[in-house]
Amino acid sequence: MKKTTLLYEGKAKKVFKTEDENLLIVDYKDDATAFDGKKKGAINDKGIINNRVTNHLMQYLEKNGIPTHFVKEISDRETIVKKVSIIPIEVIVRNIAAGSLSKRLGLEEGTKLSKTVLEYCYKDDSLGDPMINEYHIAAMELATEDELKAIAEYSFKVNDLLTEYLIDLGIELVDFKLEFGKTSDGTVILSDEISPDTCRFWDSKTGEKLDKDRFRRDLGGEEDAYKEIMRRLLGE
Ligand code: TMP
Ligand code: ASP
Repeated sequence: MKKTTLLYEGKAKKVFKTEDENLLIVDYKDDATAFDGKKKGAINDKGIINNRVTNHLMQYLEKNGIPTHFVKEISDRETIVKKVSIIPIEVIVRNIAAGSLSKRLGLEEGTKLSKTVLEYCYKDDSLGDPMINEYHIAAMELATEDELKAIAEYSFKVNDLLTEYLIDLGIELVDFKLEFGKTSDGTVILSDEISPDTCRFWDSKTGEKLDKDRFRRDLGGEEDAYKEIMRRLLGE
């Protein structure tokens, strides 16, 4: 399978068309951005780590009943995925208060939430990915009622599966962001990535941050944190 034309270049990935109209190749970059691209930098080998970590977790989820876009890893940074039209909703799942939730609600970072929180944001960088609810989604026709039901059910199931899987590796899943897409026949599947860029991972013993917050907050050590996540997940 070969890349043909560049379809889209995002902040962390390039997406290419292939000879097969139903398949794309994702190519992960080392570029790192935060705050809607206002902060820019790079994390050494992030593209390799995010590619491998995402594929590892996508395969685990697929085995456990979550349909995903994963097809085949073809190099350190490249993966063949099913072509989807991305539903322009970022789904955020939270188990522990952190980041924008802590700020918005005045909850101290690290406060365990009594119930898992699901949030939706409208995926539009020029608007700063504003938070929306089911009514906005219906009014803007971003997804049908059935699609949103599937998205919410899959998101909670992903949370249960990942939380259980990661805790055995000494990783607390604080929160994460998912994106879903629709295949040509209208099936909703999990797309995009699941990586230290899109999740908050805290060491369950020390509370050390092992994710992109090291970059966002200028904490340093982001390369080692990403490597540590890959080591715990893939044993290398
Ligand atoms: P937040 O606390 O900044 O809203 O982030 C919640 C989770 O979503 C966190 O795990 C990081 C992830 N996230 C993304 O993947 N992309 C984004 O653009 C943002 C803002 C957050
Ligand atoms: N990826 C987003 C950006 O570049 C934000 C983030 O991950 O914090 O703006």
